Amino acid sequence: MNTRNTRTRIRRIALRRTAVAVAASAAAFSLASCGVVDGVGDESKASPTKGNDITVGLLMPDKETARYEQFDYPIFKAKVLELTDGKGTVQYANAEKDAKQQNRQLEQMVAEKVDIVVVDAVDSKAIASAVKKAKDAGIPVIAYDRLAQGPIDAYISFDNELVGQVQGRALVEKLGTSAASKIVMMNGSSTDPNSAQFKAGAMSELQDAVTIAKEYDTKDWDPKNAKANMEKAIAAVGLDNIAGVYAANDGIAGAVIDALKTAGVSKVPPVTGQDADLDAVRRIVSGDQYMTVYKSYPQEADAAAEMAVAKIQGRSIEFDALTRDKVDSPTNENIPSQLVPVVALTKENIEDTVVKDGIYTVKQICTSKYRSACQEIGLLK
Ligand code: GAL
Repeated sequence: MNTRNTRTRIRRIALRRTAVAVAASAAAFSLASCGVVDGVGDESKASPTKGNDITVGLLMPDKETARYEQFDYPIFKAKVLELTDGKGTVQYANAEKDAKQQNRQLEQMVAEKVDIVVVDAVDSKAIASAVKKAKDAGIPVIAYDRLAQGPIDAYISFDNELVGQVQGRALVEKLGTSAASKIVMMNGSSTDPNSAQFKAGAMSELQDAVTIAKEYDTKDWDPKNAKANMEKAIAAVGLDNIAGVYAANDGIAGAVIDALKTAGVSKVPPVTGQDADLDAVRRIVSGDQYMTVYKSYPQEADAAAEMAVAKIQGRSIEFDALTRDKVDSPTNENIPSQLVPVVALTKENIEDTVVKDGIYTVKQICTSKYRSACQEIGLLK
């Protein structure tokens, strides 16, 4: 497929997604302001089932990736408090990469009778039995960011295939389309269903444009494992033959750049990423990393909190408005979903993305080490 067609397709997907998101929040807003949110819906609730005194269980997968503790959890918690006049509680657990531990954490929340569970699964398949236990106990489950298997009630995520397309397209545009360009592909964890979607999206851009010389999955998304894989790739392909690296997220990108530098690279080739970690944004400023994918955590976490509270309170019209997309998991079909759009972040648009959304201040990004690089790209005046 030629680049223009691809670009048009991605733009169309992005526009469609934006339209969906805007429509969903507009609908939620207008219904709320008309005071009809607790009217009829598919559950025909005449009045809210619960008030503001609710407990939401939130489960995150690891601490390796900065976003979960730094953004997803605090933003989600603040939104639940805002939606419940400060009366709601968020019970939080981080599984620290351990799928069995996450099942125990979820089961514990079920035993403690939380009102709803929002889970970002370490292992989307392994979590299914705990999801089923929650469901059997009458506790709804919302899958967050990763599509958990089992009888979930809803799913909120970014458009993960679009993430991969944006990464792949950026790399191809930077390298030009030459089958002679050898790249290394560093994918995410195979237990994370998003990894396959990132890869599929990226492959749609990469497969006819470049040669994938080596490819690895990154166990647990752990940068240590990524570094070991990159060392193998350098040994097999040769440092000077690597034209670029597809790194599925910023943790991996950091490890890749580290391995390339340790091997003595004279100029770091283009490396992709995802998550807009602060370290990655700084590497983009200094030119070590080419791009990352900025995913608006406020958009995802706020929408998840709205979905959770609407679900518990029986506001089914609002809930439906928040979940207009439908996805299938390996175990369930037509799962009500919301897929949030994403954008590429390069040194050109740091101000318009993470700074504008209040994720980082210019001061935070541009520490003394990065001052002159920040000035060069106009981030510091
Ligand atoms: C994915 C998620 C990414 C990144 C990655 C590493 O599922 O969508 O944003 O966090 O996991 O844990």
